[in-house]
Amino acid sequence: MKVVIRALCLCVCFLQQCLGQYQPNWDSLDKRPLPSWYDEVKVGIFMHWGVFSVPSYHSEWFWWYWKGAKDTDLIKFMQRNYPPEFTYADFAPSFKAEFYDPNQWADILQASGAKYVVLTSKHHEGFTLWPSKVSWNWNAMDVGPKRDLLGDLAVAIRNRTDIHFGLYHSLFEWFNPIYLKDKANKFTTQDFVKTKTGPELYELVNKYQPELIWSDGEWEAEDTYWNSTNFIAWLYNDSPVKNKVVVNDRWGSRTLCKHGDYYTCQDRYNPGKLQNHKWENAMTIDKLSWGYRRNAPLSDYLTMVELTTTIAETISCGGNILVNIGPTADGRIPPIFEERLRQMGQWLKVNGEAIYGSKPWAFQNDTATHGVWYTYQKATDSVYAIVTGGKMPFGKLMLGAPNPSPGTQVTLLGYTGGPFRFDRNPPGGIAIDVPAIPASQMPCDWAWTFKFTQLAN
Ligand SMILES: *[C@@H]1O[C@H](CO)[C@@H](O)[C@H](O)[C@H]1NC(C)=O
Ligand SMILES: *[C@@H]1O[C@H](CO)[C@@H](O)[C@H](O)[C@H]1NC(C)=O
Ligand SMILES: *[C@@H]1O[C@H](CO)[C@@H](O)[C@H](O)[C@H]1NC(C)=O
Repeated sequence: MKVVIRALCLCVCFLQQCLGQYQPNWDSLDKRPLPSWYDEVKVGIFMHWGVFSVPSYHSEWFWWYWKGAKDTDLIKFMQRNYPPEFTYADFAPSFKAEFYDPNQWADILQASGAKYVVLTSKHHEGFTLWPSKVSWNWNAMDVGPKRDLLGDLAVAIRNRTDIHFGLYHSLFEWFNPIYLKDKANKFTTQDFVKTKTGPELYELVNKYQPELIWSDGEWEAEDTYWNSTNFIAWLYNDSPVKNKVVVNDRWGSRTLCKHGDYYTCQDRYNPGKLQNHKWENAMTIDKLSWGYRRNAPLSDYLTMVELTTTIAETISCGGNILVNIGPTADGRIPPIFEERLRQMGQWLKVNGEAIYGSKPWAFQNDTATHGVWYTYQKATDSVYAIVTGGKMPFGKLMLGAPNPSPGTQVTLLGYTGGPFRFDRNPPGGIAIDVPAIPASQMPCDWAWTFKFTQLAN
Protein backbone atom coordinates (compact mmCIF):
# COMPACT_ATOMS: atom_id res chain seq x y z
CA MET A 1 0.00 0.00 0.00
CA LYS A 2 2.79 2.39 1.02
CA VAL A 3 4.60 1.68 -2.23
CA VAL A 4 1.46 2.36 -4.25
CA ILE A 5 0.85 5.68 -2.48
CA ARG A 6 4.46 6.65 -2.99
CA ALA A 7 4.29 5.79 -6.67
CA LEU A 8 1.08 7.79 -6.96
CA CYS A 9 2.68 10.78 -5.25
CA LEU A 10 5.71 10.60 -7.51
CA CYS A 11 3.43 10.44 -10.51
CA VAL A 12 1.45 13.49 -9.39
CA CYS A 13 4.69 15.37 -8.69
CA PHE A 14 5.98 14.46 -12.13
CA LEU A 15 2.76 15.63 -13.77
CA GLN A 16 2.86 18.90 -11.86
CA GLN A 17 6.42 19.52 -12.99
CA CYS A 18 5.44 18.73 -16.58
CA LEU A 19 2.56 21.18 -16.39
CA GLY A 20 4.88 23.76 -14.92
CA GLN A 21 3.14 23.59 -11.58
CA TYR A 22 5.43 24.84 -8.87
CA GLN A 23 4.64 24.04 -5.26
CA PRO A 24 4.44 26.83 -2.67
CA ASN A 25 7.78 25.90 -1.07
CA TRP A 26 11.33 27.02 -1.83
CA ASP A 27 12.51 23.54 -2.87
CA SER A 28 10.09 23.64 -5.75
CA LEU A 29 10.24 27.38 -6.53
CA ASP A 30 14.05 27.36 -6.60
CA LYS A 31 13.96 24.76 -9.39
CA ARG A 32 12.44 27.22 -11.85
CA PRO A 33 14.92 28.19 -14.58
CA LEU A 34 15.70 31.91 -14.67
CA PRO A 35 13.85 33.50 -17.63
CA SER A 36 16.67 34.13 -20.08
CA TRP A 37 16.04 37.84 -20.72
CA TYR A 38 17.22 38.80 -17.24
CA ASP A 39 20.79 37.49 -17.56
CA GLU A 40 21.09 38.88 -21.08
CA VAL A 41 20.11 42.50 -20.39
CA LYS A 42 22.69 43.10 -17.61
CA VAL A 43 21.88 46.76 -16.95
CA GLY A 44 18.79 48.25 -15.31
CA ILE A 45 17.69 51.55 -13.77
CA PHE A 46 16.20 51.72 -10.28
CA MET A 47 13.98 54.69 -9.37
CA HIS A 48 13.04 55.62 -5.80
CA TRP A 49 10.10 57.99 -5.92
CA GLY A 50 7.52 58.72 -3.25
CA VAL A 51 6.41 61.17 -0.56
CA PHE A 52 10.02 61.12 0.72
CA SER A 53 10.87 62.98 -2.50
CA VAL A 54 9.11 66.04 -1.02
CA PRO A 55 11.43 66.75 1.94
CA SER A 56 14.18 65.25 -0.28
CA TYR A 57 16.49 65.50 2.68
CA HIS A 58 18.59 62.77 4.40
CA SER A 59 17.17 59.82 2.40
CA GLU A 60 14.02 57.86 1.49
CA TRP A 61 14.11 56.73 5.15
CA PHE A 62 13.25 60.30 6.23
CA TRP A 63 10.04 59.37 8.12
CA TRP A 64 11.73 56.56 10.02
CA TYR A 65 14.75 58.63 11.08
CA TRP A 66 12.49 61.50 12.11
CA LYS A 67 9.77 59.63 14.03
CA GLY A 68 11.23 56.14 14.58
CA ALA A 69 14.92 56.76 15.37
CA LYS A 70 14.24 60.35 16.55
CA ASP A 71 17.35 61.54 14.79
CA THR A 72 18.23 65.00 16.19
CA ASP A 73 19.23 66.41 12.82
CA LEU A 74 15.85 65.55 11.33
CA ILE A 75 13.96 66.81 14.39
CA LYS A 76 15.81 70.12 14.08
CA PHE A 77 15.18 70.23 10.33
CA MET A 78 11.45 69.91 10.96
CA GLN A 79 11.46 72.46 13.80
CA ARG A 80 13.29 75.02 11.69
CA ASN A 81 11.23 74.64 8.53
CA TYR A 82 7.72 73.42 9.40
CA PRO A 83 4.97 74.26 11.89
CA PRO A 84 5.02 72.17 15.08
CA GLU A 85 1.90 70.12 14.27
CA PHE A 86 3.20 69.14 10.81
CA THR A 87 3.06 65.38 10.17
CA TYR A 88 4.73 63.23 7.52
CA ALA A 89 1.35 62.81 5.79
CA ASP A 90 1.27 66.60 5.36
CA PHE A 91 4.11 66.28 2.83
CA ALA A 92 1.88 64.34 0.44
CA PRO A 93 -0.12 67.30 -0.99
CA SER A 94 3.22 68.83 -2.06
CA PHE A 95 4.01 65.72 -4.11
CA LYS A 96 2.53 67.21 -7.29
CA ALA A 97 4.67 65.77 -10.09
CA GLU A 98 3.60 68.80 -12.15
CA PHE A 99 6.46 68.38 -14.63
CA TYR A 100 6.14 64.59 -14.91
CA ASP A 101 6.45 63.53 -18.54
CA PRO A 102 6.66 59.74 -18.66
CA ASN A 103 7.53 59.80 -22.36
CA GLN A 104 10.54 61.96 -21.59
CA TRP A 105 11.55 59.62 -18.75
CA ALA A 106 11.24 56.66 -21.09
CA ASP A 107 13.47 58.39 -23.64
CA ILE A 108 16.13 59.15 -21.02
CA LEU A 109 16.03 55.55 -19.78
CA GLN A 110 16.34 54.28 -23.35
CA ALA A 111 19.30 56.58 -23.97
CA SER A 112 21.05 55.15 -20.89
CA GLY A 113 21.45 51.76 -22.56
CA ALA A 114 19.59 50.09 -19.68
CA LYS A 115 17.28 47.24 -20.64
CA TYR A 116 15.09 47.12 -17.55
CA VAL A 117 13.64 49.60 -15.11
CA VAL A 118 12.42 49.10 -11.55
CA LEU A 119 10.14 51.74 -10.03
CA THR A 120 9.15 51.90 -6.35
CA SER A 121 5.44 51.09 -6.47
CA LYS A 122 5.41 51.53 -2.69
CA HIS A 123 8.30 52.13 -0.31
CA HIS A 124 8.29 51.54 3.47
CA GLU A 125 6.21 54.71 3.97
CA GLY A 126 3.25 52.83 2.44
CA PHE A 127 2.33 55.48 -0.16
CA THR A 128 1.40 53.76 -3.43
CA LEU A 129 2.27 55.33 -6.79
CA TRP A 130 -0.81 53.70 -8.29
CA PRO A 131 -4.50 53.96 -7.28
CA SER A 132 -4.48 50.81 -5.16
CA LYS A 133 -7.85 49.35 -4.18
CA VAL A 134 -6.51 48.75 -0.67
CA SER A 135 -5.08 52.22 -0.05
CA TRP A 136 -7.26 55.11 1.06
CA ASN A 137 -5.89 58.63 0.82
CA TRP A 138 -2.33 57.34 0.82
CA ASN A 139 -1.81 56.89 -2.89
CA ALA A 140 -0.91 59.05 -5.88
CA MET A 141 -4.47 59.23 -7.21
CA ASP A 142 -6.21 60.41 -4.03
CA VAL A 143 -3.56 62.84 -2.81
CA GLY A 144 -0.67 64.73 -4.38
CA PRO A 145 -0.22 64.07 -8.10
CA LYS A 146 -3.84 62.85 -8.58
CA ARG A 147 -2.48 60.57 -11.24
CA ASP A 148 -1.51 56.94 -11.78
CA LEU A 149 2.22 57.67 -11.89
CA LEU A 150 3.11 54.00 -12.17
CA GLY A 151 0.61 53.12 -14.89
CA ASP A 152 1.59 56.12 -16.98
CA LEU A 153 5.26 55.11 -16.86
CA ALA A 154 4.39 51.52 -17.79
CA VAL A 155 2.53 52.77 -20.88
CA ALA A 156 5.36 55.09 -21.94
CA ILE A 157 8.05 52.45 -21.44
CA ARG A 158 6.11 49.86 -23.42
CA ASN A 159 5.08 52.25 -26.15
CA ARG A 160 8.47 53.82 -26.81
CA THR A 161 11.22 51.46 -25.67
CA ASP A 162 12.33 47.82 -25.54
CA ILE A 163 12.94 48.15 -21.79
CA HIS A 164 11.53 45.48 -19.47
CA PHE A 165 9.20 47.02 -16.88
CA GLY A 166 9.75 46.02 -13.24
CA LEU A 167 8.34 47.07 -9.89
CA TYR A 168 9.81 47.44 -6.42
CA HIS A 169 7.38 46.70 -3.60
CA SER A 170 7.90 46.91 0.16
CA LEU A 171 6.21 44.13 2.11
CA PHE A 172 6.19 46.04 5.40
CA GLU A 173 5.17 49.61 6.22
CA TRP A 174 6.96 51.28 9.14
CA PHE A 175 3.93 52.83 10.78
CA ASN A 176 0.90 50.99 9.40
CA PRO A 177 -1.23 50.22 12.50
CA ILE A 178 -2.43 46.89 11.07
CA TYR A 179 1.17 45.82 10.52
CA LEU A 180 2.21 47.03 13.97
CA LYS A 181 -0.61 44.98 15.49
CA ASP A 182 0.57 41.81 13.71
CA LYS A 183 4.07 42.61 14.90
CA ALA A 184 2.89 43.09 18.49
CA ASN A 185 1.24 39.67 18.14
CA LYS A 186 4.66 38.28 17.21
CA PHE A 187 3.33 37.70 13.69
CA THR A 188 0.86 35.04 14.84
CA THR A 189 -1.84 37.11 13.11
CA GLN A 190 -1.66 38.01 9.40
CA ASP A 191 -4.21 40.79 9.06
CA PHE A 192 -1.78 43.13 7.30
CA VAL A 193 -0.82 40.47 4.75
CA LYS A 194 -4.45 39.50 4.21
CA THR A 195 -5.81 43.03 3.79
CA LYS A 196 -2.93 45.12 2.48
CA THR A 197 0.39 43.82 1.24
CA GLY A 198 -0.93 40.56 -0.27
CA PRO A 199 -3.80 42.14 -2.24
CA GLU A 200 -1.40 44.86 -3.43
CA LEU A 201 0.96 42.32 -4.97
CA TYR A 202 -1.83 40.53 -6.85
CA GLU A 203 -3.24 43.88 -7.97
CA LEU A 204 0.14 45.08 -9.24
CA VAL A 205 0.74 41.91 -11.23
CA ASN A 206 -2.75 41.66 -12.72
CA LYS A 207 -3.03 45.34 -13.57
CA TYR A 208 0.50 46.25 -14.71
CA GLN A 209 2.06 42.88 -15.58
CA PRO A 210 5.57 43.68 -14.33
CA GLU A 211 8.35 41.46 -15.66
CA LEU A 212 10.31 41.83 -12.46
CA ILE A 213 9.29 42.13 -8.82
CA TRP A 214 11.90 43.65 -6.56
CA SER A 215 10.57 42.76 -3.12
CA ASP A 216 11.89 44.51 0.02
CA GLY A 217 10.96 45.29 3.62
CA GLU A 218 10.86 41.57 4.44
CA TRP A 219 13.36 41.29 7.28
CA GLU A 220 11.20 41.58 10.41
CA ALA A 221 9.11 38.46 9.73
CA GLU A 222 9.40 34.98 8.24
CA ASP A 223 8.35 34.26 4.67
CA THR A 224 5.47 32.22 6.14
CA TYR A 225 4.04 35.41 7.67
CA TRP A 226 4.33 37.20 4.31
CA ASN A 227 2.76 34.21 2.53
CA SER A 228 5.59 34.60 0.02
CA THR A 229 5.80 31.09 -1.39
CA ASN A 230 2.04 31.06 -2.07
CA PHE A 231 2.30 34.33 -3.95
CA ILE A 232 5.37 33.26 -5.94
CA ALA A 233 3.83 29.88 -6.82
CA TRP A 234 0.83 31.77 -8.25
CA LEU A 235 3.20 34.14 -10.04
CA TYR A 236 5.10 31.24 -11.66
CA ASN A 237 2.08 29.00 -12.37
CA ASP A 238 -0.94 31.10 -13.14
CA SER A 239 -0.19 34.82 -13.33
CA PRO A 240 -0.32 36.77 -16.61
CA VAL A 241 3.49 37.10 -16.46
CA LYS A 242 4.26 33.49 -15.50
CA ASN A 243 6.68 32.84 -18.38
CA LYS A 244 8.83 35.95 -18.11
CA VAL A 245 8.59 37.33 -14.57
CA VAL A 246 11.71 37.41 -12.40
CA VAL A 247 11.83 37.95 -8.63
CA ASN A 248 14.62 38.84 -6.22
CA ASP A 249 15.45 37.27 -2.86
CA ARG A 250 13.75 39.50 -0.26
CA TRP A 251 10.69 37.50 0.75
CA GLY A 252 11.21 36.77 4.47
CA SER A 253 13.74 37.16 7.27
CA ARG A 254 15.76 34.14 6.10
CA THR A 255 15.46 34.23 2.31
CA LEU A 256 18.07 36.88 1.46
CA CYS A 257 20.92 35.47 -0.66
CA LYS A 258 19.20 32.04 -0.49
CA HIS A 259 15.96 31.95 -2.46
CA GLY A 260 14.44 33.63 -5.50
CA ASP A 261 15.32 33.90 -9.18
CA TYR A 262 18.30 36.09 -8.37
CA TYR A 263 20.07 37.30 -5.26
CA THR A 264 20.60 40.87 -4.06
CA CYS A 265 22.20 39.83 -0.73
CA GLN A 266 22.79 43.38 0.50
CA ASP A 267 22.51 46.91 -0.86
CA ARG A 268 25.36 47.71 -3.27
CA TYR A 269 26.37 44.03 -3.29
CA ASN A 270 29.56 43.77 -5.36
CA PRO A 271 31.51 40.68 -4.24
CA GLY A 272 34.43 41.05 -6.70
CA LYS A 273 34.45 37.34 -7.48
CA LEU A 274 32.38 34.87 -9.47
CA GLN A 275 29.13 33.77 -7.78
CA ASN A 276 27.42 30.42 -8.30
CA HIS A 277 23.91 31.91 -8.54
CA LYS A 278 22.55 34.80 -10.57
CA TRP A 279 22.84 38.03 -8.60
CA GLU A 280 22.32 41.77 -8.91
CA ASN A 281 24.27 44.78 -7.70
CA ALA A 282 21.57 47.31 -6.73
CA MET A 283 23.54 50.52 -6.24
CA THR A 284 23.08 54.27 -6.27
CA ILE A 285 24.52 57.18 -8.25
CA ASP A 286 24.04 59.36 -5.14
CA LYS A 287 26.36 57.43 -2.82
CA LEU A 288 24.31 58.24 0.30
CA SER A 289 20.67 57.92 -0.70
CA TRP A 290 18.19 56.12 -2.94
CA GLY A 291 15.63 58.93 -2.82
CA TYR A 292 16.43 62.40 -4.17
CA ARG A 293 18.41 64.70 -1.84
CA ARG A 294 18.27 68.40 -2.63
CA ASN A 295 21.40 69.10 -0.60
CA ALA A 296 23.65 66.45 -2.13
CA PRO A 297 26.88 68.08 -3.32
CA LEU A 298 28.45 67.00 -6.61
CA SER A 299 31.04 64.94 -4.74
CA ASP A 300 28.27 62.64 -3.45
CA TYR A 301 27.47 61.52 -6.98
CA LEU A 302 29.47 58.72 -8.57
CA THR A 303 31.78 59.88 -11.34
CA MET A 304 31.65 58.10 -14.68
CA VAL A 305 34.99 56.47 -13.88
CA GLU A 306 33.47 55.04 -10.70
CA LEU A 307 30.27 53.99 -12.46
CA THR A 308 32.01 52.26 -15.39
CA THR A 309 34.36 50.49 -12.97
CA THR A 310 31.39 49.18 -10.98
CA ILE A 311 29.66 48.05 -14.16
CA ALA A 312 32.77 46.12 -15.29
CA GLU A 313 33.30 44.48 -11.87
CA THR A 314 29.66 43.48 -11.61
CA ILE A 315 29.22 42.05 -15.10
CA SER A 316 32.55 40.19 -14.97
CA CYS A 317 31.43 38.34 -11.86
CA GLY A 318 28.09 37.29 -13.35
CA GLY A 319 25.91 40.01 -11.86
CA ASN A 320 23.40 42.44 -13.26
CA ILE A 321 23.74 46.08 -12.27
CA LEU A 322 20.71 48.11 -11.17
CA VAL A 323 21.68 51.79 -11.16
CA ASN A 324 19.51 53.95 -8.91
CA ILE A 325 18.36 57.52 -9.48
CA GLY A 326 15.97 59.65 -7.42
CA PRO A 327 13.35 61.69 -9.32
CA THR A 328 12.00 64.88 -7.71
CA ALA A 329 8.58 65.53 -6.19
CA ASP A 330 7.78 67.81 -9.13
CA GLY A 331 8.33 64.92 -11.51
CA ARG A 332 11.78 65.54 -12.96
CA ILE A 333 14.86 63.43 -13.43
CA PRO A 334 17.44 66.00 -12.24
CA PRO A 335 20.06 66.94 -14.87
CA ILE A 336 22.92 65.36 -12.88
CA PHE A 337 21.17 61.97 -13.06
CA GLU A 338 20.16 62.55 -16.67
CA GLU A 339 23.75 63.32 -17.57
CA ARG A 340 25.09 60.20 -15.85
CA LEU A 341 22.46 58.07 -17.61
CA ARG A 342 23.18 59.53 -21.04
CA GLN A 343 26.93 59.12 -20.45
CA MET A 344 26.38 55.52 -19.45
CA GLY A 345 24.47 55.10 -22.72
CA GLN A 346 27.36 56.59 -24.71
CA TRP A 347 29.75 54.19 -23.02
CA LEU A 348 27.49 51.19 -23.58
CA LYS A 349 27.03 52.11 -27.23
CA VAL A 350 30.76 51.51 -27.72
CA ASN A 351 31.33 48.78 -25.14
CA GLY A 352 27.97 47.01 -25.09
CA GLU A 353 29.40 44.10 -27.07
CA ALA A 354 31.35 43.18 -23.92
CA ILE A 355 28.30 43.62 -21.66
CA TYR A 356 24.93 42.57 -23.13
CA GLY A 357 24.51 38.81 -23.43
CA SER A 358 28.01 38.20 -22.07
CA LYS A 359 29.08 35.41 -19.73
CA PRO A 360 31.80 35.37 -17.09
CA TRP A 361 35.16 34.21 -18.44
CA ALA A 362 37.62 31.81 -16.80
CA PHE A 363 39.20 34.84 -15.09
CA GLN A 364 37.27 37.78 -13.67
CA ASN A 365 40.04 40.31 -13.00
CA ASP A 366 43.58 40.44 -14.21
CA THR A 367 46.51 39.12 -12.22
CA ALA A 368 49.13 41.54 -13.67
CA THR A 369 47.28 44.83 -14.08
CA HIS A 370 44.89 46.06 -11.42
CA GLY A 371 41.42 47.20 -12.48
CA VAL A 372 41.09 45.06 -15.61
CA TRP A 373 37.88 42.98 -15.71
CA TYR A 374 36.98 40.24 -18.17
CA THR A 375 33.81 39.11 -19.93
CA TYR A 376 33.16 36.54 -22.62
CA GLN A 377 30.87 36.12 -25.65
CA LYS A 378 30.16 32.51 -26.42
CA ALA A 379 28.78 33.01 -29.95
CA THR A 380 32.05 34.49 -31.22
CA ASP A 381 34.41 32.91 -28.67
CA SER A 382 35.67 36.40 -27.83
CA VAL A 383 37.23 37.56 -24.58
CA TYR A 384 36.94 41.18 -23.47
CA ALA A 385 39.28 42.99 -21.10
CA ILE A 386 37.69 46.15 -19.71
CA VAL A 387 40.40 48.54 -18.53
CA THR A 388 38.86 50.67 -15.78
CA GLY A 389 40.17 53.57 -13.73
CA GLY A 390 39.99 56.39 -16.29
CA LYS A 391 43.53 56.09 -17.70
CA MET A 392 43.94 54.73 -21.24
CA PRO A 393 47.01 52.42 -21.10
CA PHE A 394 49.04 53.95 -23.96
CA GLY A 395 52.34 52.18 -24.57
CA LYS A 396 52.43 48.67 -23.15
CA LEU A 397 49.45 46.94 -21.58
CA MET A 398 50.57 43.82 -19.71
CA LEU A 399 47.86 41.28 -18.97
CA GLY A 400 48.40 38.09 -17.04
CA ALA A 401 45.25 36.18 -17.92
CA PRO A 402 44.95 35.92 -21.73
CA ASN A 403 47.25 33.42 -23.44
CA PRO A 404 47.62 34.28 -27.14
CA SER A 405 47.70 31.69 -29.91
CA PRO A 406 49.26 32.31 -33.34
CA GLY A 407 45.80 33.29 -34.61
CA THR A 408 44.96 35.75 -31.84
CA GLN A 409 43.77 39.24 -32.79
CA VAL A 410 43.62 42.13 -30.35
CA THR A 411 41.37 45.11 -31.08
CA LEU A 412 39.83 47.98 -29.15
CA LEU A 413 36.03 48.30 -29.20
CA GLY A 414 34.93 51.36 -31.14
CA TYR A 415 38.38 51.94 -32.73
CA THR A 416 38.99 51.05 -36.37
CA GLY A 417 42.79 51.42 -36.27
CA GLY A 418 43.54 47.92 -34.94
CA PRO A 419 44.44 45.11 -34.68
CA PHE A 420 47.28 45.81 -32.27
CA ARG A 421 50.73 44.24 -32.17
CA PHE A 422 51.45 42.13 -29.12
CA ASP A 423 54.04 39.82 -27.58
CA ARG A 424 53.60 36.72 -25.55
CA ASN A 425 54.63 37.67 -22.04
CA PRO A 426 57.39 35.31 -20.77
CA PRO A 427 55.78 34.38 -17.42
CA GLY A 428 52.44 33.88 -19.23
CA GLY A 429 49.98 36.41 -20.52
CA ILE A 430 50.26 39.07 -23.16
CA ALA A 431 51.93 42.46 -23.68
CA ILE A 432 49.91 44.67 -26.03
CA ASP A 433 51.41 47.64 -27.89
CA VAL A 434 48.76 50.32 -27.48
CA PRO A 435 49.45 53.09 -30.01
CA ALA A 436 49.01 56.79 -29.28
CA ILE A 437 45.44 57.11 -30.47
CA PRO A 438 44.59 60.72 -31.33
CA ALA A 439 41.92 62.26 -29.11
CA SER A 440 39.61 62.64 -32.12
CA GLN A 441 39.70 58.87 -32.66
CA MET A 442 39.30 57.76 -29.05
CA PRO A 443 36.18 55.59 -29.01
CA CYS A 444 35.04 56.57 -25.51
CA ASP A 445 36.02 57.93 -22.13
CA TRP A 446 36.29 56.41 -18.62
CA ALA A 447 37.00 52.74 -19.48
CA TRP A 448 38.18 50.89 -22.60
CA THR A 449 37.57 47.39 -23.84
CA PHE A 450 40.19 45.25 -25.57
CA LYS A 451 38.79 42.33 -27.53
CA PHE A 452 40.64 39.04 -28.03
CA THR A 453 39.76 36.37 -30.56
CA GLN A 454 41.30 32.92 -30.80
CA LEU A 455 43.04 32.91 -27.47
CA ALA A 456 44.74 29.69 -26.43
CA ASN A 457 42.74 29.80 -23.15
C1 LIG B 1 2.21 55.48 -28.33
O1 LIG B 1 3.09 56.13 -29.24
C2 LIG B 1 2.48 56.56 -30.42
C3 LIG B 1 3.55 57.11 -31.36
O2 LIG B 1 4.65 57.60 -30.68
C4 LIG B 1 1.42 57.60 -30.10
O3 LIG B 1 0.77 58.02 -31.26
C5 LIG B 1 0.40 56.97 -29.15
O4 LIG B 1 -0.55 57.91 -28.74
C6 LIG B 1 1.09 56.40 -27.93
N1 LIG B 1 0.14 55.70 -27.09
C7 LIG B 1 0.02 55.95 -25.81
C8 LIG B 1 -0.99 55.13 -25.10
O5 LIG B 1 0.71 56.77 -25.23
C1 LIG C 1 -1.88 32.89 1.47
O1 LIG C 1 -2.04 32.40 0.15
C2 LIG C 1 -3.03 31.39 0.03
C3 LIG C 1 -2.98 30.89 -1.39
O2 LIG C 1 -3.10 31.91 -2.32
C4 LIG C 1 -4.38 31.96 0.40
O3 LIG C 1 -5.36 30.96 0.28
C5 LIG C 1 -4.31 32.50 1.82
O4 LIG C 1 -5.51 33.14 2.13
C6 LIG C 1 -3.18 33.50 1.96
N1 LIG C 1 -3.03 33.90 3.34
C7 LIG C 1 -3.02 35.19 3.72
C8 LIG C 1 -2.79 35.46 5.16
O5 LIG C 1 -3.14 36.11 2.93
C1 LIG D 1 41.54 40.27 -8.38
O1 LIG D 1 42.50 39.22 -8.55
C2 LIG D 1 43.41 39.01 -7.51
C3 LIG D 1 44.25 37.81 -7.85
O2 LIG D 1 45.02 38.05 -8.94
C4 LIG D 1 42.74 38.88 -6.19
O3 LIG D 1 43.68 38.77 -5.16
C5 LIG D 1 41.81 40.03 -5.95
O4 LIG D 1 41.16 39.88 -4.73
C6 LIG D 1 40.82 40.11 -7.09
N1 LIG D 1 39.74 41.02 -6.84
C7 LIG D 1 39.80 42.36 -6.85
C8 LIG D 1 38.54 43.06 -6.49
O5 LIG D 1 40.80 43.01 -7.15
